[in-house]
Amino acid sequence: MPEREIRIYEDLSELTQAAADRFVEAAHGGIEAKGFFTISLAGGSTPRSLYTRLSSSDYRARVDWTRVHFFWGDERIVPSTHPDSNYRMANETLLKNIPISEDHLHRIPTELTPASQAAETYSNELKNFFGLKEQQWPRFDLILLGMGPDGHTASLFPGSTTLFEKDRLVDSPYVEKFHSYRITLTPPTLNQAAGVLFFVAGGEKAQAVREVLEGNYDPARYPSQIIQPVDGALTWMLDRQAARLLSSRWPNTKNPQSLDPLKRP
Ligand code: 6PG
Repeated sequence: MPEREIRIYEDLSELTQAAADRFVEAAHGGIEAKGFFTISLAGGSTPRSLYTRLSSSDYRARVDWTRVHFFWGDERIVPSTHPDSNYRMANETLLKNIPISEDHLHRIPTELTPASQAAETYSNELKNFFGLKEQQWPRFDLILLGMGPDGHTASLFPGSTTLFEKDRLVDSPYVEKFHSYRITLTPPTLNQAAGVLFFVAGGEKAQAVREVLEGNYDPARYPSQIIQPVDGALTWMLDRQAARLLSSRWPNTKNPQSLDPLKRP
């Protein structure tokens, strides 16, 4: 049974520092074990604080960035220079400030149309990079994920058929609420990671956080519940606002406690 770690931090700054330390620790582990570190980045806006912190003077020197390979958990169907691009957000906050070569940036090729072509091409990039045979899945060292107020993660939205995808590494679901396609890693890919880190802040997420972590198992309604690493660590790092509706038994920075084994079927 995989273990689930839930940590609650006073505010975004404390949460960001803890997540940055976890990133550095995971990077050192990956580089030490096999000479490189594979990270799948989250999009949206919350991770801006984390990526900015990682490129700050007190963190930048703690990682051998020349041994890091960056991937993305999902992407919007916009050019990589577009304000909504997850690639652009990571580039502005981190990538342009660290010594990283282009061949270490495995961007989702959203310039390819239709979206299914972009998904297929990204899937092939994963198969080539991780040296996968048929029916094999990439095992990222660390996958960073955010969560929306509706409980979505990556581009796995409530009611999406991609939630129950069993064969594809990458999919290109149409997202009604945005009237557009997205490219996303699928649950089997996400759940093969050695480590998954949810980085969630803000009171508007509190209801979804409680439903995902303490509610009935219903991933069609709360997609983040589908993230259950098969053989990997699952860590939720929350600020106090996002955690405010949780029962008091979860660890927090005032009294760190033991891990909580997953109780899901
Ligand atoms: C995206 C993200 C998405 C994000 C959540 C939370 O492309 O938007 O991958 O899954 O993590 O929507 O976004 P915020 O951090 O901006 O609240």
